Amino acid sequence: MARRDAARQRIDQLTGALGGAAKDRLAWFHTVYREAAGDPAAIPWADLAPKQVLMEWLADNPGKGRRAIDIACGLGDNAEALSAAGYRTTAFDLAEEAIDWAKTRFPESRVDYRAADLFDLPADWTAAFDLVHECYTVQALDGDMRNRAADAIAALVAPGGKLVFINRSREEGSEAKGPPWPVVPSEWRRFADLGLEPVSERFYTIERPDRTIPHVMAVFQRPA
Ligand SMILES: C[S@@+](CC[C@H](N)C(=O)[O-])C[C@H]1O[C@@H](n2cnc3c(N)ncnc32)[C@H](O)[C@@H]1O
Repeated sequence: MARRDAARQRIDQLTGALGGAAKDRLAWFHTVYREAAGDPAAIPWADLAPKQVLMEWLADNPGKGRRAIDIACGLGDNAEALSAAGYRTTAFDLAEEAIDWAKTRFPESRVDYRAADLFDLPADWTAAFDLVHECYTVQALDGDMRNRAADAIAALVAPGGKLVFINRSREEGSEAKGPPWPVVPSEWRRFADLGLEPVSERFYTIERPDRTIPHVMAVFQRPA
């Protein structure tokens, strides 16, 4: 916990830590991984375990060899869960430092880990995935990157495929003192304007000693 707090204080001082220009924010992620130098306590979002709500969803939605992609996979725990649930899984992150780290953590992995930028993805990934999983990326971006990220995420969903979107949530119109900047309903419901049909919305909280953190898991499907 002490290492985590010290790291948090250090990285909060870096350019891009609090948002601002897109190039600074994206460079900040690289710096966080690089400066962590292999210590996961220095990565604020590294739980070193897959998200519980994702595990519950996967229990009812096994992959059976279908293709999945994990958006901005960080250290790889959610991607490994997708793979273990039977999805042929691709996982990418902007930070090659994170990708190398994930490969080191999971040397026997069947996940295809790639360094890639959500805003400049390979053309052959368009509409190529039966499951697109996005966890905590949109909330980590500010300004116009949020809608651009949603556009890029939606474009990956194959006909008949699903999007599972997991982020912190807040009420429409409420203030966010990010990062992270929790998502508002109009942001995730915008996937319906991008050709996806709403399947479900699950609201839940994560309890911390000093606060309660609202979350949403929203599921969408592209018509076949
Ligand atoms: C808050 S972390 C979440 C990581 C992981 N999805 C999780 O649930 O733990 C946000 C991640 O987004 C990545 N990221 C930020 N901008 C990106 C971009 N344009 N393309 C790909 N990854 C990006 C960062 O490097 C970081 O690993």
